[in-house]
Amino acid sequence: MSSNFDYAHKHRDEIVWMSQNTNTIPISPEIEKAIMESVKSREYNLYPFAPGIFGLKEAIFKDLGLSEDEFDCLITPGGIEALYILNRALLSKEDNVIASDPSFMPIHHQVRLSGAEIKELPVYHEPWKLTEEQVKEAVDSQTKMFLLIDPLNPLGTHYSRDEVKAFSEVCEDHDLFLIDDITYRDFSESHTLTNEFFSEKTIITYSFSKNCGFAGMRIGALIAPKDIMKELLPYNTNVLSVNIIAQRAALAALHTKNQWVDNVVSISRKNQEHIKNCVEAIEGAFLPVFPSHTNMFVIDISETEINPDTVEERMLYDHHVFVRGGNYLSKRFGNRFVRTSFSIPEKQCLKFCEVFPKVIHEQRK
Ligand SMILES: Cc1ncc(COP(=O)(O)O)c(C=O)c1O
Repeated sequence: MSSNFDYAHKHRDEIVWMSQNTNTIPISPEIEKAIMESVKSREYNLYPFAPGIFGLKEAIFKDLGLSEDEFDCLITPGGIEALYILNRALLSKEDNVIASDPSFMPIHHQVRLSGAEIKELPVYHEPWKLTEEQVKEAVDSQTKMFLLIDPLNPLGTHYSRDEVKAFSEVCEDHDLFLIDDITYRDFSESHTLTNEFFSEKTIITYSFSKNCGFAGMRIGALIAPKDIMKELLPYNTNVLSVNIIAQRAALAALHTKNQWVDNVVSISRKNQEHIKNCVEAIEGAFLPVFPSHTNMFVIDISETEINPDTVEERMLYDHHVFVRGGNYLSKRFGNRFVRTSFSIPEKQCLKFCEVFPKVIHEQRK
C-alpha cells in the first residue's frame, strides 16, 4: 500500500486527494500572510517559546469554550502526538481500553505499544457507532480508558448529547479516562464535548489538520485537567516546542475561523450529496451512513465482491483519484468498504463521481 502513497506524492498536483480526510479547500488569505511573515522574519532561527506562541492556547480554549482555570493545553505536532503522549503516560500492561472497530487504527497501535489491550467493539452495523449498552458490557475491572472519536472516522456517525452524557456517566462510574478525540468536530452540525458531563478525567485531543486543511503543518493540541496534565508532561517529546510556522498558521486560522469554517462545511456537504447520487446508481454499493457528520464516509461495496484495495489502486493509477481501501481502518470489516473524504473543491468531487462507477463496472467483469 505504501507504493500507492509513493505514486500519489510523486504526482501530487494531479491527484484528487480523498484518501486521508485532508482538506484542500482554500480557506483564508490571512493564514498565508501569517506564514509568510513568520518566514520573512526568520523567527525559525530560534526555538519557539516552549508553552506555544502567545495567544495560541487562549485561542484554542476560546474555540472550545473551556476555561484555563480548569484545563491545561499542550501544543503538539498534531492530534496523533497528543494521543501518543497520553497513551504512553497512562497505560500499562494490565490495562485495557475500549474503542470501536472500524476506527482510526494508529491509536489502537499506540495502546498496544503501551502494553495495554484494546477492546475493539464492532460497530459495522446499525447504528454504525458505539452504544451505551455495548460499552457498559465491555467494561471490566482492568478497563482504564474509553476512546471516543466523535464524529467517527471512518463511518461519519456522530454522537448525540444524550449519548455523550451516557458514555461520560459510564466513565465516571468506572473511573475511566475519557479520551475525547474531536479531530472532526467542526464538520458536525452539533457536537458535545465530554467535559460538559465528566471534566475530571476527560482528555481532549485537538487537530488543525482537517478543518483548517493543515495536515502538512503537523499541529494540534492536548487538553487535560491540570492534575492529569502533570502526569502526561513527562512523556512530552516536544520540550523544545512545535514548528513555529505551523503555530503562526494555527493562530491565524483560529482568529479568522468565522470567515472560512461555514464555507468548508458547506462545500463538504454538497460534495457528499454528489457522491450519494453517484453511489445510489451503482448496484451492490451503498452508504451505511448518510449524511456523514464529518468530511468522510464509507462506501460499502461488499455485494459487488470487488476487493477494496483493487478499487483504491484502479482509482489512483487509472484516474488519479486517491481513496482508501477499508483494511487500513478495520481488519474485521475492511474488506467490505472503501473510505472517501470530500473536503475538496467541488470540481474534483465531480471527477470522483465520474470515474468511480467506471472502476466498479470494470472490476465487476
Ligand atoms: C480520529 C483521528 N484522530 C487523530 C488523527 C490525527 O490527526 P492529526 O493530523 O492532527 O495528527 C486522525 C487523522 O486522521 C484521526 O482520524
